[in-house]
Amino acid sequence: MNSDRPVLEAKELTKQFSGFVALKDFSVQIPKGSITAVIGPNGAGKSTFFHLVTGLHAPTSGKVLHNGEDMTALPPSQRVSRGIARTFQGVRLFPAMTVLENVLVACRGQGRGGVGNALFRPRAFRRAERQRIEWAYSCLSFVSPSLYRRANELAFHLPYGEQRRVELARALATQPEVLILDEPAAGLSQVERKELSSFLERIAARGITVVLIEHDMRLVMSLAERVVVLNHGVKIAEGSPAEVRQDPQVIASYLGTSGFEQAPVGTVDGAPGLREGDRYAVAP
Ligand SMILES: Nc1ncnc2c1ncn2[C@@H]1O[C@H](COP(=O)(O)OP(=O)(O)OP(=O)(O)O)[C@@H](O)[C@H]1O
Ligand SMILES: [Mg+2]
Repeated sequence: MNSDRPVLEAKELTKQFSGFVALKDFSVQIPKGSITAVIGPNGAGKSTFFHLVTGLHAPTSGKVLHNGEDMTALPPSQRVSRGIARTFQGVRLFPAMTVLENVLVACRGQGRGGVGNALFRPRAFRRAERQRIEWAYSCLSFVSPSLYRRANELAFHLPYGEQRRVELARALATQPEVLILDEPAAGLSQVERKELSSFLERIAARGITVVLIEHDMRLVMSLAERVVVLNHGVKIAEGSPAEVRQDPQVIASYLGTSGFEQAPVGTVDGAPGLREGDRYAVAP
């Protein structure tokens, strides 16, 4: 086994929607245990890349490899079983379920549940159910003690920031090898962003690979080891945060000449690739 082998690899991925090319010949290697950020202006193809990795969309051409194996043809559920978990750009919880139930739906792999055991091995079934519930609680408490306390509340009663945390707990409940997060900081307060950042560091310290799309450049530059930049469906830069922030093409298309560090909080100043109101700057 080659330990340097990337945990995830995209090989010349292209995605067209009715002739429109959302992603073009995109190749990238994601090292195991790393935190990689995918950045770029709105419509650059970032979410499209995530949809191709997680199987929500099939590529027009190209391949997605997991630990060197081609998984391009696998349905999303099998990719989850292989350890690829994700959250979406917007909250996607079951609002009429409790927090705990939202996490439990992701715990299928825990214990020996199923109808067969429920009917013929009720003790094994109950034990499996207990294991699932304990696992769901431990995922909730790993993400946040406050979530653990609110486990029996309906998900839609929770404030937005807490709902996003439930999504993280649900992704963790699948025991991922790779956690794929589409704009996890969008809509969060400054305090919540700091908590998210330290949570992701804790995740990575446990050997889970993190790939995130983010418009909050402070968060990206302080957290990510590697940054990949997309623009109009094409990779225009890749490297360390320091390398990418000095790249003339990245500055021209996304970060701006004044530099994001000087961008006033809550505005899109210094980011000419973005429109007024886009989720870019650090939240107030
Ligand atoms: N299902 C679809 N059908 C047609 N066009 C699509 C579809 N999904 C995405 N696109 C287009 O592909 C392009 C890339 O979209 P994508 O969602 O990947 O961008 P993004 O980089 O995630 O942007 P944002 O930062 O706004 O989320 C956009 O022009 C978008 O309108
Ligand atoms: Mg997107």
